Amino acid sequence: MDLREKIALITGGSTGIGLGLARRMVQAGASVVLVARGADKLAAAADSLRGEATVQSGQSRVLTIAADVADRATLHGLPQRVVSELGGLDILVNNAGLNHRGPALSVTAEQMAQVIEVNLVAPIYLTRRALDVLRPGGAIIQVASLAGKVGFAKQTSYSASKAGLRFFSRALGEELAPRNIHVMCVNPGPVDTDFFGDIRSAADLTFSQPMSTVEEVVEATLRGLALRQAEVDIPVASGWLATLGYLSPGLTRLLLPLMEARGARNKAAYMRRKGQL
Ligand SMILES: NC(=O)c1ccc[n+]([C@@H]2O[C@H](COP(=O)([O-])OP(=O)(O)OC[C@H]3O[C@@H](n4cnc5c(N)ncnc54)[C@H](OP(=O)(O)O)[C@@H]3O)[C@@H](O)[C@H]2O)c1
Repeated sequence: MDLREKIALITGGSTGIGLGLARRMVQAGASVVLVARGADKLAAAADSLRGEATVQSGQSRVLTIAADVADRATLHGLPQRVVSELGGLDILVNNAGLNHRGPALSVTAEQMAQVIEVNLVAPIYLTRRALDVLRPGGAIIQVASLAGKVGFAKQTSYSASKAGLRFFSRALGEELAPRNIHVMCVNPGPVDTDFFGDIRSAADLTFSQPMSTVEEVVEATLRGLALRQAEVDIPVASGWLATLGYLSPGLTRLLLPLMEARGARNKAAYMRRKGQL
């Protein structure tokens, strides 16, 4: 997809993967609307992007909207607001996400429902609203996770939300292909962002797969857009492993102790790097 003069709406665009995608889009000449809750982080993100736009693509515009994607009333008007303020909408990136980690019995029912609301209901709702205004030739990118390909212990509702998002995307992609709208799901393994918060709370198994940088995720996403892929796994080999794990639960149980031991070592190294150990 040629990103010049395209208009993108990106939830969770103030940091991490969302900001990385916004940066590359602006560098390529697109305008972006960033949505997140924290106004300060949004403002800092927009400032850094406007710097890029001035230097490399004078036509790009950057707007920020401080909002919680769990607030359906706000979501309802977002796509139309982008059209009113920037003149159209070509790309929706559903990227804002939440994880309450821990054994199912230590996570409340309310927290589980919140994960589903932010990671699954909000992207579906916003996608549906965006479909009324998205221009032909446009794209919808859903940031899911490898946790949505194989059920992970200690992040049950997170796995459920991301699996749901993947299947929503696959089904919608089939429907929208004749309208020339590309729907793509991005499934990263661990990525070096602030998403982990207190790294101790993340399951060892999460770190059994190689950690990607934001740039690697962005690169793979843009490649997926260019190739019109339905799904992108990052890293690719971890995606194969996740599919194998899903298809062969017995084999997964056999390999689990090895993967957890490897994950524990990687996690300790990561915590040291981040000054959390
Ligand atoms: N990092 C990983 O290892 C990893 C792996 C697989 C998938 N993912 C997925 O990647 C996506 C982005 O995560 P990231 O790693 O880039 O994390 P991040 O750096 O923590 O970014 C999360 C972004 O989402 C925003 N956000 C969170 N909750 C929100 C809400 N309720 N409403 C609006 N905005 C909200 C945050 O800003 P505010 O807090 O200010 O709202 C921030 O801009 C998530 O969907 C996550 O599930 C991450």
